[in-house]
Amino acid sequence: MSLFVKKPLDQILAQAADSEKGLKRTLGAGNLIALGIGAIIGAGLFVRTAAAAGQAAGPGVTLSFIVAAIGCAFAGLCYAEFASMIPIAGSAYAYSYVTMGELVAWIIGWALIMEYALGAATVSIAWSEYLNKLMGGSIPYEWCHSPFESFTDSAGVYHQGIMNAPALIILLALTLLLIKGTQESALVNAVIVFIKVAIVILFIAIGWQFIRPENHTPYLIPAGTPPIVDQAGKIIADYSGWNKHGWGGVLGGAAIVFFAFIGFDAVSTAAQEAKNPKRDMPIGILGSLVICTILYILFGHVLTGVAPWTDFVDPEKGREASVAYAISNYMTNYQWLASAVTIAILAGFSSVILVMLMGQSRIFYTMSNDGLIPKAFGVLHPKFKTPYKANWILFLFVGAFAAFVPGHVAGDLTSFGTLFAFVLVSLGVWILRVKSPEIERPFKTPLVPVVCTLGAVICTAMIVGLDMQTLKVAFLWMGLGLIVYFTYSRHHSKLKK
Ligand code: ALA
Repeated sequence: MSLFVKKPLDQILAQAADSEKGLKRTLGAGNLIALGIGAIIGAGLFVRTAAAAGQAAGPGVTLSFIVAAIGCAFAGLCYAEFASMIPIAGSAYAYSYVTMGELVAWIIGWALIMEYALGAATVSIAWSEYLNKLMGGSIPYEWCHSPFESFTDSAGVYHQGIMNAPALIILLALTLLLIKGTQESALVNAVIVFIKVAIVILFIAIGWQFIRPENHTPYLIPAGTPPIVDQAGKIIADYSGWNKHGWGGVLGGAAIVFFAFIGFDAVSTAAQEAKNPKRDMPIGILGSLVICTILYILFGHVLTGVAPWTDFVDPEKGREASVAYAISNYMTNYQWLASAVTIAILAGFSSVILVMLMGQSRIFYTMSNDGLIPKAFGVLHPKFKTPYKANWILFLFVGAFAAFVPGHVAGDLTSFGTLFAFVLVSLGVWILRVKSPEIERPFKTPLVPVVCTLGAVICTAMIVGLDMQTLKVAFLWMGLGLIVYFTYSRHHSKLKK
């Protein structure tokens, strides 16, 4: 049978409606928006805003957020059409099964592992770093770093990482929560989202009074800005490249802050647990995207207004823990806010990990129901009705990554997986409009095919902009996926039987 066999839509919808056997429908529009914000606000905002300002955009990082948001909005509109029309758990994987057939669906499912599983691993490693910072560096180096990392301290003692234990512990805690139940997880997520959004708003409101107009002038990094050098005379930031100053720098900054938007699509993985997916899926996806975009722009405006963007380049100043640095150094009497921000960061990272793990287990669940991966991934807990075996297997996989692999390896792969999914979802909406115009679409992407084309083109451009090393590893991963497909999945596919 053809590699491009497509899953009939009515069969998918019947499967999803079978609530006796399936996941429970417990989430409302508010939960879904919270789920989106839970996955969106994290390392991207708290770490990459300052990086983008210091390396490429200056105060124009606010414009970078707008550019990245526009790219995401095109994809978000396409996700909203699919998620309301095909409200089942597999997100982009499930949509491509209907529109482009099994092989493409498999490829996208495999790419989504990079987005969700590696995304969770990356953020759990960052979580461990911040926890250590909050505890004044008291966790021994050996137990919060991978075996591939080492360092010699000022006393000349050599330290070699053994495993990243805090990353493993946070993953275990969140896995247990996910197994306990979707509603419980959604509740914890909502509390975390409340805390982190409140602290972001507090920072914006209080910081506003400390904005110094001279920090915002000029607004973009001027052409001819000399490189910045460290104490030893080594260049640590060079502004000569086209994407390092002026409007080009705004685009360069957009690629850096794109990571901050990853996660709104995770809302679509919960489609099968939404009470009223037709109405609430578009609200959840687009609502969380809009709220985060507004917060991001205001946050970038305040951060670059409080501290000069050049501080965010200097390792002796605000290059690390930039937000806490800006508060401590420029907002007198608000030291408590610096600590609150660190707590918001830890909370923010936790909810990102939670939603990523949840999204991945739901994608596995759907792929397993289709027979493309082993049955274990689709088994629901008899009492909690959550895919608990998938959660445990995922914990082992993500945990191995988080404990034994350095963090920077996974971050860009996460962007690759996400962008790849965005491209296929954008094209998929167009394809299905042409092939099956008769299907009821509770939410319609406007201006098809313009929005679809722009979504696919912008995301492809961002993929091309990733570094070569990332692309090589990503293609190796995809190659491995094809081997698995042709040796296992193809022969177990339920659709083909
Ligand atoms: N958007 C998520 C973050 O910034 C992945 O951490």
